[in-house]
Amino acid sequence: MSNSENVTPETYVVSAGRPAPEHDAPVNPPIVLSSTFRGSVPVDPVNDKVYARFNNPTWEGFEEIVAGLEGASEPGLSFASGMAAIASVLDLVPVGSTILMPKHAYMASVTIAEDLRRRGIAELVRLDIEDTDSVIEAMRAAATDAGMSAENVDYSAPKVLLWLESPTNPMLEVADLPTVLAEARKLGVVSAVDNTFASPLLQQPLKLGADVVVHSATKYLAGHSDVLLGVTATSNRALYEAMLHHRTTNGAIPGPFESWLALRGVRTLSLRVEKACENARFLAEKFQQHPAIREVRYPGLATDPGHERAAAQMSDFGSVLCVVLDADVEQTERVIDQLQVWTPATSLGGVESLVERRRRHGKEPASIPPSLVRLSVGIESADDLYEDFVRALAGLDK
Ligand SMILES: Cc1ncc(COP(=O)(O)O)c(C=O)c1O
Repeated sequence: MSNSENVTPETYVVSAGRPAPEHDAPVNPPIVLSSTFRGSVPVDPVNDKVYARFNNPTWEGFEEIVAGLEGASEPGLSFASGMAAIASVLDLVPVGSTILMPKHAYMASVTIAEDLRRRGIAELVRLDIEDTDSVIEAMRAAATDAGMSAENVDYSAPKVLLWLESPTNPMLEVADLPTVLAEARKLGVVSAVDNTFASPLLQQPLKLGADVVVHSATKYLAGHSDVLLGVTATSNRALYEAMLHHRTTNGAIPGPFESWLALRGVRTLSLRVEKACENARFLAEKFQQHPAIREVRYPGLATDPGHERAAAQMSDFGSVLCVVLDADVEQTERVIDQLQVWTPATSLGGVESLVERRRRHGKEPASIPPSLVRLSVGIESADDLYEDFVRALAGLDK
C-alpha cells in the first residue's frame, strides 16, 4: 500500500485506502452494512469496533486518503456532511470564548458561530481576511482578553478559535495563510481552515501552520454531486480525540454507501481538479474581455487581489470563479435561465458546471453584489461552456 510521502498525490489517491494485498482480496473495500460488531473476549478496548456509530471499516479508505493528502499524522475523520465536520470543531469552544471568522464565509458556518454567540457561549468577530494586519490585530486582542499564550492552549476547548476559508465562499478572497497561521500559533489561538474551495490537492493548510482542516467532501473530494459527506484532518492528538468524541456522541456519522461513493469519487480527484482548473482559468480570462461582465473574481487572474498569495500557497487556483454582470437581478436571473450546458444549482467541485446567483440566499450579506454569479466550473469542454454563457449573455441586449 502506498504512503503519502513516497508517491505523488496523483498516485496516492488511486493506490491508498485499499484492502490489504492478500490473495483474492477485493481491490475495493466492501460496503459494511452492520450496525453492530461481534465483540472479543476478553474485550480489546483499542481494536474492538463495538458499534457502527463508533466505527465502520467502510469509512477508513476515504479517511486515510484525505489525512494523507493533507499531511495529517492523526487519522482522518469523516462525517455525515461538511457541516457535521464543521460543527465538530466549532462546538468545541467553551463559554466565554471568541470565534474569529471571515466576513465572507460559508453561510451555515457563520450560522453555527452566530448561534453560539446568541446562546452566550462565544463572541463572534468578523475578519477582512485580505487585510493581514487587521486579522493579526483581532487575534492579539482576543488572545490578550482570554489570557492566552502558546503555553496554555487547551485544544479540546479552544478559548480563541480562528476560523478561516481561503479562498472564501463566495467572494474568493485569499488570506496570507502562512503569516496568519504562524501568528495564531504564537498567540495560543487555535486555527481551523475550511479547505473545501482549494481541495487538499491544491492547498495543505496543516503544512502552512493550521491546527485542523475541514472539508465539505460533498464538493471536489467526492466530485460527482451525488453524495453529502464531510471530513477533518489534524496532526493534533487532542483535537482529533475531541472531534472523534463529537462524532461518536452526536452521531453525525457517514452512511457506508456514501463513504464508498466518496472513495470511488476521490480516485479521479487529480484528473478532475486539473481539468476543472484549466477550464476555470480559460473562462476567467475570456470573461474579463466580455462587455456584459463588469467584474471577474478569480485568484488565478494576474489582476486579482489574491493572485500573489494564492500563487505562493496553492498549486493551482481552483475551479470556482465569480462574475458580476452588468445587469440587474431580474436580467441576471434571465441569463441564468437561458443557459443550456450549465446547470442552475448551488454547490461546487463536481464534474458538471453549476451556476448560481449567490444573493438568492437570504443569508448572504449585502456586501456581495446582487448580480454576482458564482460559477463552479466542471470538466466539460471549455469552449462549450464559454459559448453557452456568451449565448445567454446575448439575451441582455434584447
Ligand atoms: C466552503 C464550504 N464549507 C462547508 C460547506 C458545507 O458542506 P455540506 O453541504 O457538505 O454540509 C459548504 C457547502 O456548500 C461550503 O461551500
